[in-house]
Amino acid sequence: MALAEQLSTTALDVAWIRSQFPSLAQTVNGLPAVFFDGPGGTQVPRRVIDAISGYLAHDNANTGGAYQTSRDTDRMLAEARAAMGDFLNCDADEIVFGANMTSLTYAMSRSIGRELGPGDEIVLTLLDHDANFSPWKALEEKGVTIRAARFNGADCTLDMQDLARQITSRTRLVAVGFASNAVGTINNVAEVVRLARGAGALSYIDAVHYAPHGLIDVRALDCDFLACSSYKFFGPHMGVLYGKREHLQRLEPYKVRPNTNSIPNCWEWGTLNHECIAGIKACVEYWEELGRHANPSATTRREAIVAAHSSVHLHEWALTEKMIAGLLAIPGLKLYGIGDPRRFNERCATFAVRVEGHTPLQLATKLGERGFFTWDGNYYALNVTEQLDVERTGGFLRIGLVHYNTAKEVERMLAALGEIVRLWF
Ligand SMILES: Cc1ncc(COP(=O)(O)O)c(C=O)c1O
Repeated sequence: MALAEQLSTTALDVAWIRSQFPSLAQTVNGLPAVFFDGPGGTQVPRRVIDAISGYLAHDNANTGGAYQTSRDTDRMLAEARAAMGDFLNCDADEIVFGANMTSLTYAMSRSIGRELGPGDEIVLTLLDHDANFSPWKALEEKGVTIRAARFNGADCTLDMQDLARQITSRTRLVAVGFASNAVGTINNVAEVVRLARGAGALSYIDAVHYAPHGLIDVRALDCDFLACSSYKFFGPHMGVLYGKREHLQRLEPYKVRPNTNSIPNCWEWGTLNHECIAGIKACVEYWEELGRHANPSATTRREAIVAAHSSVHLHEWALTEKMIAGLLAIPGLKLYGIGDPRRFNERCATFAVRVEGHTPLQLATKLGERGFFTWDGNYYALNVTEQLDVERTGGFLRIGLVHYNTAKEVERMLAALGEIVRLWF
């Protein structure tokens, strides 16, 4: 069955989905706003907005106090951890909240780095966002050797042979992205975890870009750490780290003395953003509701999340087919990353392009005037833009789709981009 047909038989109810996101109704210069900026941050459903304001209106307090709002806050934090545990398939005490993925990763690299020195090695990849690169590279200060696996320029996939070569008995940690925020490649992280484990090294997965597009199962992956950011999967601006309990217990965090020694709180610095954590709980509940729309017979929250992801996957795949076919028909346009429909299981709906004669900023600006929100530049995937030699000339135009985008938006975007390119030639 063709994907377009499969799509019509799935239960992804895009009209219902869009009705949940108030910001999607905006206009720009009288034209409907089209949010193709998901890789930079997604919109939030009404229940997330309500949870944040509801927390501030009723429960606003610090933790551990002997009174009602503080107890309510403690309960909400426990529920939010359990919800994220269901989202990632781990236990609640393996969930660490933080300001964002970057700061959580720096905190973890500092702690892991306490035990490392000359002779130890860390393997990174050149396809990663800098947030899963620089925090580890900083350990060169301690004499740690950093190695970086290459990616294939032609299709922007990780060079797995090179990665395997870099991992040796001296490797202590392998850090890899689940999906590239620049070119959309989905990496074979299960294989990377296996290679790391085989060498006795820890694995650290950056799932920030992958989380809105695909199901994450840290138990099945058997990774040691996995970081993501709720603002990329329809929640508020915060970061979430999964750490295997044994590591969270054994490693020594940098922390202030009065803070508890018990996990996961010992990994959390200062007072957290409670209202946003209330929003994270609501965000997971949104995923659950989405899944129950797709599969009303889902019983547990995790089952509903699994169902949500399979319908999201089919929807995004169909949008990807339409978008790539249309992009490749635009004169002078070059797509970076996988363009072959037979390999769309190795990519998500994030498209990096350049058009001859136009800078990415010019294109993003012209599209922005027409209501299309895209991005230009390197989006902190600096090694990618450097290796592909586009860093000096403005990086890429990035068009990023998520489940609330529609086929009509893709058609309008292709028409607008085609017109911009034609008008300027
Ligand atoms: C793949 C990837 N990793 C890491 C980050 C950094 O996340 P945060 O902003 O939560 O620090 C981003 C942000 O764009 C990203 O796309």
